This record gives sequence, C-alpha cells and structure tokens, in this order.
Amino acid sequence: MTELLNATETGIAEAARLLREGALVAFPTETVYGLGGDARSDTAVARIFEAKGRPRFNPLIVHVAELDAARAVAIFDDRAERVASAFWPGPLTLVLPLRPSARLSPLVTADLPSVAVRVPAHPVAQALLHAFGGPLAAPSANPSGKVSPTRAGHVMAGLSGRIAAVVDGGTCAVGVESTILGLTDGAALLRPGGIPAEALEDCLGHRLETGGDNERPNAPGQLASHYAPSAPVRLDVAAPERGAFWIGFGPEAGGADLNLSPTGDLVEAAANLFHYLREADLRAKGPISVSPIPDRGLGRAINDRLRRAAAPRPVA
Ligand code: TXA
Ligand code: MG
Repeated sequence: MTELLNATETGIAEAARLLREGALVAFPTETVYGLGGDARSDTAVARIFEAKGRPRFNPLIVHVAELDAARAVAIFDDRAERVASAFWPGPLTLVLPLRPSARLSPLVTADLPSVAVRVPAHPVAQALLHAFGGPLAAPSANPSGKVSPTRAGHVMAGLSGRIAAVVDGGTCAVGVESTILGLTDGAALLRPGGIPAEALEDCLGHRLETGGDNERPNAPGQLASHYAPSAPVRLDVAAPERGAFWIGFGPEAGGADLNLSPTGDLVEAAANLFHYLREADLRAKGPISVSPIPDRGLGRAINDRLRRAAAPRPVA
C-alpha cells in the first residue's frame, strides 16, 4: 500500500519519518517528482533501484537543502561556487569530486569518485529535506524506461505498491529534468534540462563541452571494465576454488569468504555489493570468484555490475 500524503506539516513529518526508517517516498521538485531514499543507507538506495526496476546501477542525484549541505558531500572549486550561487536553489545538478568524508552509500555514486548534487527550489522538496535533515538520493519517480512524472497521480500510476508514500505537491512547473553540468575535469553539459546551457556559459564565461560519449572517463558506466577491482574476477562460480577469494550468494554458498546475502535476498545483496567488491580486492591473494546471481529484479543490475568487474581490462 502506497500512502498519498498531503504537503502539510503533518504529511511532511510522516514522509520524513518513513525516510528515516529507510523507506522510499516520492516528492515533488520543480523539475519532476523524485523517488527519494536516504542517500547514506545502502538498503534504501538498493530499494530505489528495485522499485524502479533499473537494469543497472547508474549513479543517482543527491538532493540537499542548501549549499552548505552540498559542500559536505562534494568538493567545490571557484567555478562550482559561482554556478551554485547563481542557480541554486533550482533545476541545476553539478557533478563534482566526491568528498571523502561524505558518508554516502557507494550505490548512489556507482562507486565513482564523483557525485551529482542538487539543491531543489520546490517548497515541498525544501520542507522535506529540512524535516529529514540529510541527503536524499532521488531519480525521477517512474519505472525504468517510462516517462518522468510531473504529478502525484503519475507516480501512483507507475509505482503504487512498490514505495511507501507519495507527497502530493501538485504539478511540477519546469516539467523536464535538471540540467547536469560536469565540473570534474573541464566543464561539460552532461544532460540538457531546466537551465539553458547558454545561461551556464554566460555565468562561467566560456563555452561548455558536450559530454556523455565513450571517450569521457567521467561518463559513468560507459567503459565495460569501469572501476574494476585489481584482482581478476570470475563469475558464476558455484563452489570454492583453491586460492580464490569467494563472494557467495544464498544459503548454498556456506563456505564463502563473504556472502552477499546468506538468505538469497537481492536487495541485501545489492546493498552489500560495492562494499564486498572492495573488501575482496583488499583481502584476495588470487582471483575473486562470485556465485551465480539470479538474473531477475535487482539481480540484473548486480550481474551488469559484476560483468563490468570481470570484463577484460584495457591496456594502460
Ligand atoms: O530533475 C532531476 O534532476 C530529477 C529530479 C527528481 O531532481 N532527478 C533526476 O535524477 O533526474 P536521476 O538520478 O535520474 O539522474 C541521474 C543522472 C544520470 O543521467 C546520471 O548518469 C547522472 O545523473 N549522474 C549522476 N551521478 C553522476 C556522476 N558522478 N557523473 C556523471 N553523471 C552522473
Ligand atoms: Mg529518469
């Protein structure tokens, strides 16, 4: 059952309470409705991917109430400070270096060294972020592959029964997603959106590159072997192998060095995935072998990520 909450003080307090429990709540922003979850909680973020049925762990936008909170998760240079003070709160997302002390779930950033962050202007989004008191990961609140929702009814039509609640804040004024500006190296328009590229160029005093192609290392998930562990990775290994570090899944993997989910729960497995790949990379003295993961629901995103980790490495 998905609750439809009014954008009153009571409704927003209830939404914040649900978010603190790790549940998912859709809320209005000035661009589109976002599907919010605690950006610091591995389980909450795994649930976002599950609810949307996303086939891969692409990085999500982190929403915060104000510039100071954004500075706590990302490293701002002069250019970032300039565009943030010109366009926030508003429909602009900045991709910046991740601050090491940010304490975000690695699922939010797909374990990248960068983070997408935005300060939404919508008064209901602002009220919810203040009531919750932390960063919210929030992709558009629609099933993967469907149109982004601009009314609470659209969210209900797509996600009813899959999320805890929707805060009804009426119709989104902008109606398209935020513009994404990448400032990790150079200045690149990663996604056109609510703020025109020309306005950003005027503010920065130069033209933007257009990003998102295969050559750009900061375009997430493009290279097959992106952010692979340094040890070789073998997939679909159902039994321990001599000399290999075994990441198991499910009750059959009793002898595993680490088990993504002893009970075979895909949400738990997704929440543990990036942590365990890193830990395995530190502890492995040989190859890393991984149990078969069922290729349904979140298992598809887990397998996508594992295939990248196991892909042949580019020659440096
Ligand atoms: O208007 C919006 O931005 C909406 C509302 C709800 O705020 N949110 C939204 O979020 O569209 P999401 O998570 O669907 O957008 C994610 C986009 C993807 O295209 C992703 O590739 C990019 O942001 N992105 C996130 N982190 C990134 C990173 N570290 N580097 C490059 N791109 C990143
Ligand atoms: Mg979307």
